[in-house]
Amino acid sequence: MATIIRLPSLTSFLSLLLLASLVHAIRIPNTNTNTANHDTHTEKNIARRSVTLDLQRNPHYAPNGPAAYARALKKWGADVPQELTNSLAAMRGDVGGEGEVRAETIRDDREYLSRVGFGTPLQWLNVDLDTGSSDVWVYSSETRKWVAGDRPVWKIEESSTAEKVENATWMISYGDGSSAWGNIYRDTLSIASITLPNATLESAISASTSLTSDPDIDGLFGLAYGLPSQTTPQQPSVLSALLPHLSLPLFTADLHHHASSGAYTFGRVDPSRYKRDTAIWYTPLVDNATFWEFPYRGVHVGGQDKWYLHDNFSAIADTGTTLMLLSRAQVRLYYSAVPGARQNWTVGGVWTYPWGDGMLLPDFEVGFRNGFVATVPGRFMNYTVMPDDASMCMGGLQEWGYDDWGIFGDIFLKAVYAVFDVGGGRVGFAEKELGED
Ligand SMILES: *[C@@H]1O[C@H](CO)[C@@H](O)[C@H](O)[C@H]1NC(C)=O
Ligand SMILES: *[C@@H]1O[C@H](CO)[C@@H](O)[C@H](O)[C@H]1NC(C)=O
Ligand SMILES: *[C@@H]1O[C@H](CO)[C@@H](O)[C@H](O)[C@H]1NC(C)=O
Ligand SMILES: *[C@@H]1O[C@H](CO)[C@@H](O)[C@H](O)[C@H]1NC(C)=O
Ligand SMILES: *[C@@H]1O[C@H](CO)[C@@H](O)[C@H](O)[C@H]1NC(C)=O
Ligand SMILES: *[C@@H]1O[C@H](CO)[C@@H](O)[C@H](O)[C@H]1NC(C)=O
Repeated sequence: MATIIRLPSLTSFLSLLLLASLVHAIRIPNTNTNTANHDTHTEKNIARRSVTLDLQRNPHYAPNGPAAYARALKKWGADVPQELTNSLAAMRGDVGGEGEVRAETIRDDREYLSRVGFGTPLQWLNVDLDTGSSDVWVYSSETRKWVAGDRPVWKIEESSTAEKVENATWMISYGDGSSAWGNIYRDTLSIASITLPNATLESAISASTSLTSDPDIDGLFGLAYGLPSQTTPQQPSVLSALLPHLSLPLFTADLHHHASSGAYTFGRVDPSRYKRDTAIWYTPLVDNATFWEFPYRGVHVGGQDKWYLHDNFSAIADTGTTLMLLSRAQVRLYYSAVPGARQNWTVGGVWTYPWGDGMLLPDFEVGFRNGFVATVPGRFMNYTVMPDDASMCMGGLQEWGYDDWGIFGDIFLKAVYAVFDVGGGRVGFAEKELGED
């Protein structure tokens, strides 16, 4: 049941929640995790360890807001408004047959890339680590030339350890008909200093152009919680194969706003990446979760006195989605506090606002049942300028048709240190230093 409640101040909401939180907050003692980095011990002949995989900011990052919105809706099975599809097609120059004319201007970039090694000897490719999918797929020497373009690919024939899995295929398809599919191999995978023999690697034969618009991405690295990979017959996911190699069955994401200094850490929680003397606040995933889906209590807009609370809000933490998608009511609450904000219906209702000197967006806060409040600073809430209209900006928070669940993409995840605890079936968030930009 949705309620807008008026509270005298944020502190009283907090103190209510804090009572409950005493039971649920779990503090990770610094001393236990400090030594984990190079600590390896052997169990069943597997050295368990933890590694850090650096994130690089995509050097050609030039986001297109409407394209990012369309991708997020499509990925999560929501209808993509016809106006949005049409305007993207028009930007691309599809209308009138001039195929690829403006493809460059609607590149829907991934902001972060990580280097992962494939095969023997290792071939290094840039992949997008994606907590919202389960497959590890790459462009390869099997990929149709016009699909792969000029990007580096996994050269299967140059790997002495690649073995094809006979009669097995993979396919990822979206509601709008776009898809990617191909063959399955087992080969060695290297994540920082962890070498994973016999990992399930999916080689793309084809992928729709809407999935290949970012030439800096050579593949996708899925890290979803319980979702089986999209393979027939079913193959073990890379995440499940990785867990026995880790000191602790978890990984963490520390995305940095407009910077390359972020990282994923596998196998430990790194206390140097969140605020000193603060806790990691854990929330159990929803029942039978297939994604990193967890409940949250409500949202609040900086400078206002209202919290919007709901008994049934849940959200999926997705590093592979740029934006935050939430219900109409939550999103409207936010933009009602942004001067001049309005939806642009020619691009499917994207929330935009005029950008003038000195304009500051309000912070956006998310409250959890355990008492934690995550604050996404106003400057993170600004996604990008609108194509064709530099006087308007597009927000990183956008609405969709679902009332009680949402997607917490990079806009949210940049504001916290996020723990994806596979073994514990929970996510944890902590405050971190956010820097000046
Ligand atoms: C919350 O969701 C569950 C499962 O969908 C449903 O049974 C329950 O009635 C909902 N509760 C409220 C208060 O909406
Ligand atoms: C693959 O399928 C073909 C045709 O159905 C069959 O002859 C062959 O034995 C299968 N191979 C494996 C390894 O299952
Ligand atoms: C590789 O993994 C597959 C699937 O888990 C398994 O059936 C096979 O025995 C493994 N091969 C080796 C050499 O470990
Ligand atoms: C979770 O799965 C169990 C076993 O399959 C089932 O009994 C239960 O109803 C499921 N719970 C929800 C909330 O779907
Ligand atoms: C929003 O981001 C764009 C692109 O980075 C920038 O040009 C603009 O000044 C920002 N606007 C606000 C209100 O911060
Ligand atoms: C809507 O967005 C398009 C694409 O950026 C732009 O050309 C148009 O001027 C915008 N319309 C309004 C009313 O802001």
